[in-house]
This record gives sequence, structure tokens and C-alpha cells, in this order.
Amino acid sequence: MPSRPQISPSILSADFARLAEELARIDGAADWAHVDVMDNHFVPNLTLGLPVVEAVLKATSVPVDCHLMIEDPDRWAPAYAEAGAGSVTFHAEAAAAPVRLARALRAAGARAGLALKPATPVEPYLDLLPEIDMLLVMTVEPGFGGQSFLDVVLPKLRRCSEAIRGRELDVWLQVDGGVSAATIERCAEAGADVFVAGSAVYGADDPAAAVEALRARAAGVLGP
Ligand code: DX5
Ligand code: ZN
Repeated sequence: MPSRPQISPSILSADFARLAEELARIDGAADWAHVDVMDNHFVPNLTLGLPVVEAVLKATSVPVDCHLMIEDPDRWAPAYAEAGAGSVTFHAEAAAAPVRLARALRAAGARAGLALKPATPVEPYLDLLPEIDMLLVMTVEPGFGGQSFLDVVLPKLRRCSEAIRGRELDVWLQVDGGVSAATIERCAEAGADVFVAGSAVYGADDPAAAVEALRARAAGVLGP
């Protein structure tokens, strides 16, 4: 578990023409900047790739949390770690050799994350937990910001949390999709400790204040 609840604003809801300014608006408040890489194959949407992530890394001192919604992460993901992303998360559904890939990410200096779409069970991956630093449980179908939170994923989130705590592993549990002031406490109660929020942060007049308010709600459940 991280030392305090982590908030990772997704820049998918930011103004892509002004990314440096948008990153500055969360600097000092956010624990991470969540960058959604989509390839129009793994998900039906196309966002950005390595050149933009490299530019983001130069433009901010906020650690970068890359969420790769791409096919063949075995081939593409290590470059994001080598570029300097602090955390690189790939999808279980897309990886051919998740253990080898997680080891490559860690060897390149990043935290390794494994993501599960809403319909993907965690059970086949439980024995791999010691190989990763973070498990991402998607609380919407990946591909777009601004979707409604899927409560049906909460039992899986709880099972993930129990598996991590039961094995006394230092694996963070991230949720992504529809996380807002209305849903973050449900996530924290189910055991999440890292919260991605796109529209709830960048849709607010003051994104930094929105980050602090989200963290305060999570801390109300998890402790500061
Ligand atoms: C969706 C992305 C999310 C997205 C979340 O596939 O992975 O990170 O930006 O956006 P909100 O918080 O608006 O649901
Ligand atoms: Zn994401």
C-alpha cells in the first residue's frame, strides 16, 4: 500500500493542445500524471504514443503513470519505461508473456503494472502478483473518458485486495474509469489505493483542488 492514497489525474480529459499548462495545473497536488496510450486496435480510440510521452516527461516533474491500451505491449511497453515513465501498465489481455514484460519494465527502472478489463477475471493472474508493483482494475470498458463507473467490478476489486493483503504483497491497487467524488469511497472501501480520475479532475474549475478533495475522501476511508 502507498504511504497515502494516490491520485493520478488522467490527461485524456485535458486540453491536448496545451499539455504543459494542463500538467502545471496538477503539479504539487497530484501524485502521478496518468497518460492513456491507445492504439485504435486494443481499444476503439487513438490517443498518443511515445513521442508525446517523451514530451510530457520533459514538461513536468510529476511522475508519469502510463496506461498502455495497446496490442503487443511485449514489443512496445519497455520503451516507455526507458523514456523515464515512473510506472508503466500493460493489459493482461494483450500481453503474450506478462512475467517477462513486467521484469523488463522493472529492469528499465519503472514500476510494472498489470491491467484487467471489467470482464477479465483476476484469478488466472494471482500467482503473478509478486512480479508486479500495481494491479489496475478497470471500472469502465477502456477507450474513453467520461463514462459511468461500473459497480459490477467492485466484487473483483475486493478479491484483488484480499489476495494482495493475504499474501502480504507490496502491490498497489489502482482503479480507473468513472472515479469521482461520488464513487471514490466505494473504491477505497473495496481496497483500492491508487485512483485515476480524468473528467473529475480536468472537468473541475480548479483541478488541484479537485485532486485534494478526492484524496481527502479516499483518506477518510483508508486513513491519511
Ligand atoms: C479510459 C482511460 C481512463 C480515462 C478515465 O479508458 O483509461 O484513464 O481517462 O476517465 P474518467 O475518469 O473521466 O472516467
Ligand atoms: Zn487510463
